[in-house]
Amino acid sequence: MPKDRKLRFDADYREVRRAKDGREVMFRLLRPSDKAALLDGLKRMSVESRYKRFFTTRESLNPVELAYLTEIDQRRHFAIAVGFRDGDDLQTGLGVGRFVCDADAPHRAEAAVAVVDDAQGLGLGRMLFKRLIAAARERGVTEFHLDILPENAAMLGLLKGIFPTAEAYPDSDVVYVTCPLPPERQEPEFPFFRVLAEAAAGTLRVMRAARAWPVPDDLVDGVLRDSPPSERIVQDERE
Ligand SMILES: CC(C)(COP(=O)(O)OP(=O)(O)OC[C@H]1O[C@@H](n2cnc3c(N)ncnc32)[C@H](O)[C@@H]1OP(=O)(O)O)[C@@H](O)C(=O)NCCC(=O)NCCS
Repeated sequence: MPKDRKLRFDADYREVRRAKDGREVMFRLLRPSDKAALLDGLKRMSVESRYKRFFTTRESLNPVELAYLTEIDQRRHFAIAVGFRDGDDLQTGLGVGRFVCDADAPHRAEAAVAVVDDAQGLGLGRMLFKRLIAAARERGVTEFHLDILPENAAMLGLLKGIFPTAEAYPDSDVVYVTCPLPPERQEPEFPFFRVLAEAAAGTLRVMRAARAWPVPDDLVDGVLRDSPPSERIVQDERE
């Protein structure tokens, strides 16, 4: 990937969405200054959730672990946060999605997602994971792999919804899943069509901006229809 290429998921990225209960949530990249929020989020996860995510029940992290999780290059180690919104930033963290590229094969990455217990079931896990896929593709990652506990029905269900053909290798303690990522969506060059494509892929703000113009729905649908089916996995949001 060219180093100077403008990424959608960069330091300026903000996206506002609604959770299934109608509350507004915001997505942005995780920052080094999120250490306290990360610790707070860990405390707001149940023992079971912590174990499913980290394979440990510990509710704290030492400074080295915290630095590892927050002081990241956002390329080979990428993390996106979601939380309730306070103006232009997050107020309360609700979840994090993360991938870390394999040292010897940077086109492959280990992915994981976690949502605090009282915000589970609101669609945030799926939204995080889809954005993780899009960010991974624009960074040249072509495959995710995950270690999942066999009893983790939520994560297995989430993955099955996005990757019906994902390969699962059951182990005695964990299920190792590999997921080939869909190709990166090609951006049309002409700005008007880029606006339509953005609307179809959709951040709420862009949707509103696009709807302020007399843009017929079937034209927006057409942008989606014209995409190869494998690319629509990322765009076909059920949010
Ligand atoms: C797994 C986890 C991230 C899912 O996040 P979430 O926000 O609760 O999930 P969503 O609301 O986005 O649900 C997405 C899909 O996941 C599946 N799912 C979610 N909760 C489920 C449950 N309790 N049982 C079965 N499937 C479930 C469903 O297929 C769901 O789609 P649907 O809403 O159309 O039915 C969350 O439960 C979590 O953080 N668990 C603890 C940490 C963990 O297990 N991380 C995964 C390790 S990689």
